[in-house]
Amino acid sequence: MSYSDAVYSKAYNLLDNRRNRAENEAQARKNKIYADIPRVKEIENELSSFSVKAAKAVFAGGEVKTQLEILANKSAELKAELEALLLNAGYDKNALEPSYTCVLCSDRGVIEKDNKTITCSCFKELLRECACSEINSLSPLELSTFEAFDLSYYPDTDTPEGVNPKKRMAQILNYCKAYAQSFNKTSKSILMRGATGLGKTHLSLSIANELLLRGFSVAYVSAPDILFQLERAHFSYDYDKEQSLISALTDCDLLIIDDLGTEFSTNYTTTQIYNIFNSRILRSKPVIINTNLTIKELEEAYSQRFVSRIMGNCDKLDFYGKDIRPRKA
Ligand SMILES: Nc1ncnc2c1ncn2[C@@H]1O[C@H](COP(=O)(O)OP(=O)(O)OP(=O)(O)O)[C@@H](O)[C@H]1O
Ligand SMILES: [Mg+2]
Ligand SMILES: [Zn+2]
Repeated sequence: MSYSDAVYSKAYNLLDNRRNRAENEAQARKNKIYADIPRVKEIENELSSFSVKAAKAVFAGGEVKTQLEILANKSAELKAELEALLLNAGYDKNALEPSYTCVLCSDRGVIEKDNKTITCSCFKELLRECACSEINSLSPLELSTFEAFDLSYYPDTDTPEGVNPKKRMAQILNYCKAYAQSFNKTSKSILMRGATGLGKTHLSLSIANELLLRGFSVAYVSAPDILFQLERAHFSYDYDKEQSLISALTDCDLLIIDDLGTEFSTNYTTTQIYNIFNSRILRSKPVIINTNLTIKELEEAYSQRFVSRIMGNCDKLDFYGKDIRPRKA
């Protein structure tokens, strides 16, 4: 996992904002509580004086154990009084403390484990999100939903091959809804195939939007755009950028590659697209590929091993019907 400096600094900013917000809110709450319930401040002062008293008792020697027990009891009493005061005034019992988004690291992004300082899972999550939004900003996710998917656009008469487009598309719609509903990080991959304007992008974005709402990270990219970005980074020696894009593509929970086959194809692009797909498949991470190409055309455009990887690992959805674009326009 390697991300660009830009992704790191964006994630650090978000983390700083979270922590500062939690601490500022706690300070404001505290000030209000002190003003409304002066006894709270007194209790806090007494509690902090106890640690000094305890240290003095130990230093003076003698009946240290009894002395410490008395202090501990008093401190417990005061804490109970404090809690009751807060609850009575309608506050949470922890209202004087900041309420951090991550309880593991208090929004610091690092935790101590086995005497080592390691990155907290919340920060890794932020990095993934930032990398994803960097990718999605190249091809913004417009809102497409299952609700807006209208089956009346598809003919209800059989094609020469004996397929009823409306029935087929109803099955595909149900498949996609079920896929989004039961999605997990090792869900199957999908190949959506069919002529232009039949709803491939619409349905894949509907899946993306549902998964984003459920907190999964989704990168939606158009093959020509992303391969152009990668190739430009590579041949201008911007390996930081290239690596960061590749990490985002390979690490997100779902990768959607739209318009496969419309890119300007070079040795670099065909190798790269295979590597990205393959590295996800090896880790059982799902990909949705959309294309206008037939299987035969895919075989002509890409390596045998790429196409057989796709065929072996994807559920295949063949779209039927008549271009919807002119009718919607
Ligand atoms: N069943 C549908 N109901 C309502 N709108 C639809 C439906 N299918 C597609 N559309 C709309 O029609 C337009 C074209 O659809 P979409 O972009 O999904 O086609 P596509 O199969 O991805 O085409 P291409 O292969 O050219 O990329 C979009 O505006 C989309 O929202
Ligand atoms: Mg499309
Ligand atoms: Zn954390």
